[in-house]
Amino acid sequence: MADREFSDYVQRVQECVAKLRDTLPFLPRTVIQLGTGLGDFVSRIDTRLVLPYADIPHFPVSTVESHQGNLILGYLEGEPVAALQGRFHFYEGYSTREITFPVRVLSLLGARLLLVTNAAGGLNPLIAPGSIMVIRDHLNFLGENPLRGPNIDEWGPRFPDLSTPYHPALIKTALDAARSCGLVKVISGTYVCIPGPSLETPAETRWLRDVGADAVGMSTVPEVIVARHAGMEVLGFSVVSNVNDPDNFQPILLEDIIRTAAKVTPQLQQLIVEIIAHRQSFTAQIFQKS
Ligand code: HPA
Repeated sequence: MADREFSDYVQRVQECVAKLRDTLPFLPRTVIQLGTGLGDFVSRIDTRLVLPYADIPHFPVSTVESHQGNLILGYLEGEPVAALQGRFHFYEGYSTREITFPVRVLSLLGARLLLVTNAAGGLNPLIAPGSIMVIRDHLNFLGENPLRGPNIDEWGPRFPDLSTPYHPALIKTALDAARSCGLVKVISGTYVCIPGPSLETPAETRWLRDVGADAVGMSTVPEVIVARHAGMEVLGFSVVSNVNDPDNFQPILLEDIIRTAAKVTPQLQQLIVEIIAHRQSFTAQIFQKS
């Protein structure tokens, strides 16, 4: 990234941070990034402010119909949250820096926890369609890293450690919460992010399985890298809308993905509400860290 382009980016982030600091009625501690078909999640939030992305300085605007573009500020079980209703994808033509602009801005406003959701295709044949996968680890197959280029030391370290990209105690909390809610189709696994927008071929599916991925999608990883760089803790969920069998490959249709994601949304809502409601189990570890 040319120095000029990078300093413009830094300036855009700073201007956005300054504007939101002035505008927001309170600063969120938790960010919830909503994925394909999961926008309805916001019905569970005691909403105080809805800011269309188009009204926020320098926010990118989503080009995908299935993604609304709003920053929602409110309380979930008393927790100050910002929900990103609509995300930006590499396949839309955005750079990973642009994709991660909202997470960077919210981290600089003091957010400490990122709950990230997506719709994904299952690769592990043991996963049933309609399952929720708590993300344990990821593979970045985008061929781009949002931290490439100059590093701003105040934003995070040059070489951020990713030995635990998703917080182990939060993963355990999520799996325990699933059990206590009686949600049986909740498992954990590795997510791989591919560039898209074309879906995988049977041969690619076989290979992605072989390299250890349980589910595949076109998002999430850039946001997680930036959140970890910024010192945020992360918990991720994939709604596994379809399961792809390389030996009996079926067409993957967006309508089906959206329909299944919408069907699973209430369970994911329930799970996230349960996790947030029991946040005392991880509050000391995450929110009180300097
Ligand atoms: N592949 C990639 N992304 C997806 C899929 C898939 O099968 N399903 C939902 N998002």
